[in-house]
Amino acid sequence: MSYPYQIKTQAQYHQAYARSVQEPEAFWSDIADHFVWKKKWDRVLDWNFTEPRVAWFSGAQLNITENCLDRHLPDKSDQPAIIWEPNDPSEPNRILTYGDLHRQVCLFAQVLLNNGIKKGDRVCIYMGMVPELAIAVLACARIGAIHSVIFGGFSAQSISDRLQDAGASCIVTCDGAFRGAKDIPLKAVIDEALTGNTIVNTVLVYARTRTGVSMIKGRDHWWDEEMEKASQQVLESGSLLPAATMEAEDPLFILYTSGSTGKPKGVVHTQAGYMIWANYTFVNVFQYQPGQIHFCTADIGWITGHSYILYGPLSAGATTLMFEGIPTWPDPGRFWNIVDKYKVNILYTAPTAIRSLMSFGLDPLANKDLSSLQVLGTVGEPINEEAWHWYHQQVGKGDCPIVDTWWQTETGGCLISNMAGVTPGIPAWASLPLPGVQPILVDENGKECVEPDEKGIVKGNLCMRFPWPGILRTTYGDHERCRTNYFATYPGLYFTGDGALRDANGNYRITGRVDDVLNVSGHRLGTAEVENAINMHAGVVESAVVGYPHEIKGQGVYAYVIVEHLHGDETQMRRDILQTVSQQIGPIAKPDKIQFVSGLPKTRSGKIMRRILRKIAEGELAQLGDTSTLLDPAVVEEIAKGRIV
Ligand code: WT7
Repeated sequence: MSYPYQIKTQAQYHQAYARSVQEPEAFWSDIADHFVWKKKWDRVLDWNFTEPRVAWFSGAQLNITENCLDRHLPDKSDQPAIIWEPNDPSEPNRILTYGDLHRQVCLFAQVLLNNGIKKGDRVCIYMGMVPELAIAVLACARIGAIHSVIFGGFSAQSISDRLQDAGASCIVTCDGAFRGAKDIPLKAVIDEALTGNTIVNTVLVYARTRTGVSMIKGRDHWWDEEMEKASQQVLESGSLLPAATMEAEDPLFILYTSGSTGKPKGVVHTQAGYMIWANYTFVNVFQYQPGQIHFCTADIGWITGHSYILYGPLSAGATTLMFEGIPTWPDPGRFWNIVDKYKVNILYTAPTAIRSLMSFGLDPLANKDLSSLQVLGTVGEPINEEAWHWYHQQVGKGDCPIVDTWWQTETGGCLISNMAGVTPGIPAWASLPLPGVQPILVDENGKECVEPDEKGIVKGNLCMRFPWPGILRTTYGDHERCRTNYFATYPGLYFTGDGALRDANGNYRITGRVDDVLNVSGHRLGTAEVENAINMHAGVVESAVVGYPHEIKGQGVYAYVIVEHLHGDETQMRRDILQTVSQQIGPIAKPDKIQFVSGLPKTRSGKIMRRILRKIAEGELAQLGDTSTLLDPAVVEEIAKGRIV
């Protein structure tokens, strides 16, 4: 398989970009012609950002698994689709060919049907990074069930909220998951999440860690036993399960993500548009060549794993490497061993991982053969120049282009990025919009920013003025929330929540979130969400959470907390608050610093002045600005004095 729509030169990029703006429908329908359809579309695009409503390829019918699996069988059934590297390097690896993966997906799709799961039903997947996670995801897609993968680091409470919101009737999980030296009891967390839940009637459990688990009669079933039954059915019928016929705009999956208000929302992606976007961006950004080994280090619980471990690579017939462990266990040479062992060609990871590995010095890289690497990528947060150069020099040996890919859960795939070896990479700049992407910078009032500063740079809030195929369609069960969150701040535009700079050549540099969203180790957290969790703790009166620069995580979480009284022991209270946050959200949301305060800086109308709290957390005490409009200016001085360093 080659990719006729793979852009090879800078001139071709400019051509493709111009055409994607001038005649988007013709542009995307030409690309869509290279996919497998059960029926082609009646219309390429219908859209309106006010409602909002976006429909790509209306009238078309397809199944994404036919594009990811069946179409590769004639010539790739023996080619590795997934190479799986276990947490513990002394355990055997697993390699699933396209033939194997196809068969396993069909069997597990049969298991889902046998358990009464139908097209449109929501299936929640809470598993470690084992091949069965990929199989479960694709099996849902095969029968048209909507998958919602939940990252293994979320707590029972978080899962319970998501199950409710999605109205999920089925969960696929593992007994436990290995992560470095830890053995995380996933099934026990699910059991807790299911207390009081009356909608889930099926829990399918894959045995990974062999931890003891409770299995409830009639509700809980072992993966292996169910797969055995499905194999018998296939033997009897003589054929594997065909793929369900899906409409282009049927939902494919829900993925929960944090915003500036309330509980996480379920971002909905649909069948055809998402497939084309994941594939097109995979092929073009990474410049994938058939036969290459692609290693994306993300977890499938995040959008990066959905798009660049599974759907992008598999729809392109690529070999994708799936890693169960963490970068620093059993030692910080883990990534480099994997690159060496499998002769990885493309490595896609997060700035936080790079910074963390940098901190171990160069020893872990010694004697590792990284010469197979051809392309490096980063995602999740702005990459600082120091980390960029280290990645370029020490990992890429000065020889591999780095793609700095800017995108979001809501965008389905990369929107702004250089293309490896085709368009230039600039340290700390995501660079150019991909074909189909029409960014615009606006000021607070929604007026387009056009005036460059003395260096030729325009600065503003990053929006999109035209839909691309992978844009979110709604937030599950609450379309109004989708509208107010993304399409109402600046009427007629999709607002990303990020600030950005643009240079005279049209390159973009992302400066970070301009809303109350934190980016901690590439994970998105709402300040309100963390505050709500802290406020759940007995004795807490009020709290305010802000981000501050953190050497490894990018941003750390700084919490200012008012308590009723302190029982004398701050350490104990801190521990208890951390435990509460872990329980409510998950360990990833635990504040790095907790400062007990007697009051918070508020305006006369009662709004917390986060700007001041941010400055204090950052240690910029001289730049607190005008505090005279505060209800109680004295409180600022007290907070600044008690700042935790
Ligand atoms: C937010 C989206 C996209 C998958 C991982 C995170 C930040 C993402 C970059 C980048 C600067 C970036 C933005 C964005 N972000 N990539 N290359 N440079 N910032 O997905 O959890 O949906 O978070 O991550 O702030 O809005 P997410």
